[in-house]
This record gives sequence, C-alpha cells and structure tokens, in this order.
Amino acid sequence: MRRVVFNQKGGVGKSSIACNLAAVSANEGYRTLLIDLDAQANSTQYLTGLTGDDIPMGIADFFKQSLSSGPFSKKNKVDIYETPFDNLHVVTATAELADLQPKLEAKHKINKLRKLLDDLDEDYDRIYIDTPPALNFYAVSALIAADRVLIPFDCDSFSRQALYGLLAEIEELKDDHNEDLQVEGIVVNQFQSRASLPQQMLDELLEEGLPVLPVYLSSSVKMRESHHASLPLIHLEPRHKLTQQFVELHDLLERADSMV
Ligand SMILES: Nc1ncnc2c1ncn2[C@@H]1O[C@H](COP(=O)(O)OP(=O)(O)OP(=O)(O)O)[C@@H](O)[C@H]1O
Ligand SMILES: [Mg+2]
Repeated sequence: MRRVVFNQKGGVGKSSIACNLAAVSANEGYRTLLIDLDAQANSTQYLTGLTGDDIPMGIADFFKQSLSSGPFSKKNKVDIYETPFDNLHVVTATAELADLQPKLEAKHKINKLRKLLDDLDEDYDRIYIDTPPALNFYAVSALIAADRVLIPFDCDSFSRQALYGLLAEIEELKDDHNEDLQVEGIVVNQFQSRASLPQQMLDELLEEGLPVLPVYLSSSVKMRESHHASLPLIHLEPRHKLTQQFVELHDLLERADSMV
C-alpha cells in the first residue's frame, strides 16, 4: 500500500502527517518506508536527525542514475536509510532535487518512481510519500506511483478554494495516468475546536460531499518539539492527545482499507 500526502499549499502539515503516520505504522509492526520527495528535506531531517551534507543522496541519486541509464544498463537502485525506530526506513531527500527537476522533465522520467516502488513493494508493507508544496514533477511522480492520496487541510478560506482545484487536478491525473489512485480523504490539521468557523467550514465541505476524514488533528506545541528532537510523536509522547489522534487516524485508514 502506497500513500502519498499532498497539497500544493505550503505549511499545511504534509511532512508532519506523512512522518507521524509512518511512525505509527512502523510502531504497529508494518514494515514501513517513507520516501521524501521535497528538496526542503523536512521529513528526512525529522526522521533521521541528519542535516546538510550529512544527508545521504537517497532519492536524488536514484533520479540521477535514471538520467544516464540506457536500455541495456542495470536497474536503477536507491539507497535506503534505516532510522533508529524499528520497522521504519527512509529514502532521503536533498536540495539537489531542485536542480535535477528540469532535466528529469526534459527526459520524461515521470514513471521512474512508480517502477522503483514496484520493486520495493515486496520489502515493505506500507510506503508513505511526502511531497513538495507544488504540483511539480516530484508530486506528479508520486501521484502516479501511489494507491491512495491524503490531502492535509488547515480550514483556511484560501485553502478551501485551492482544494476544489486540487481535487479536479487529481481527477485529471487519474484519468490520464493512474486509474487506481483513490482520494483516501482530507486530513484536517491544526483544528481549533473552540472557534466556530473551522467546524462550520468542515460541515459545508461534508455537505458538498467532500471526503473529510472524521479524525481531526489538533494544534499542539508538541509537534514542534517532536521535530526539534527528531522523535515522531509516538516515540516522544505516546499518550499525548495529538499522538492519539494520529493513532486513531492511522487505524481508521487501515480499517477502511481492510474492508475494501
Ligand atoms: N498539528 C500541528 N500542531 C502544531 N503545529 C503543527 C501541526 N502540524 C504542523 N505544524 C507546524 O506547521 C508547520 C508546517 O508543518 P509541515 O512542515 O508539516 O507542513 P508541510 O505542508 O510539509 O510544509 P511544506 O509545504 O513547506 O512542505 C511546522 O512548523 C509544523 O511544526
Ligand atoms: Mg513538507
């Protein structure tokens, strides 16, 4: 099962959600891989504690190989980083992804990630993909490679307008490239239960038939502490309210999936 976490809006919680769901998944015993496709490398730093030049080339190296490979060359490989957490591995991102992007586009490498994941499927039960805040080469590669897409949403009016466009783009991409892709749901992040506007907005979205998932993630300073310590919430503070919401969300997705 491959899940991509995507929203073209920046700062809505993609990396935080991808990493914490992956950490819960690994903690529940699933062999889990997180693939970081964002040149900002936030997920990489969060799960490995590495920064700057200490980060292995990871996914950039894989894409680089694909640029020089011909029809008779060996299969492109990717380096996998083992985190200190049981069952949790990472394919790291580096800033180099930004320079590589135009070359990958020019050489039509949009299906390379999907092929890589086909090869990795037998080693992992769950693959989570973190994406950059743009519908660029890497995000489209991920949407082509994935089975499910989760859309983080921050209950902001501008985000709401962007959401309709995003859902339309995903439908188009499904039609053209990946019929099996399913929008698993909209993940409400940094939900403020005391304000009336966010709930009102969510009620409207639900009335319109949008797939808003019923577990809302609260806003908590624990998230920043967790990033700072390079410890996913399930390891930093397993009993915290936000941690429990991640576990609930994870288990909800798994249950829904086992009923299909
Ligand atoms: N539930 C939460 N509670 C408090 N802070 C949060 C929560 N979720 C995310 N944040 C904070 O919001 C900021 C953005 O989160 P994150 O980096 O996960 O978003 P993103 O969508 O991956 O951003 P980008 O588009 O830049 O990749 C971070 O500072 C993070 O600590
Ligand atoms: Mg991010």
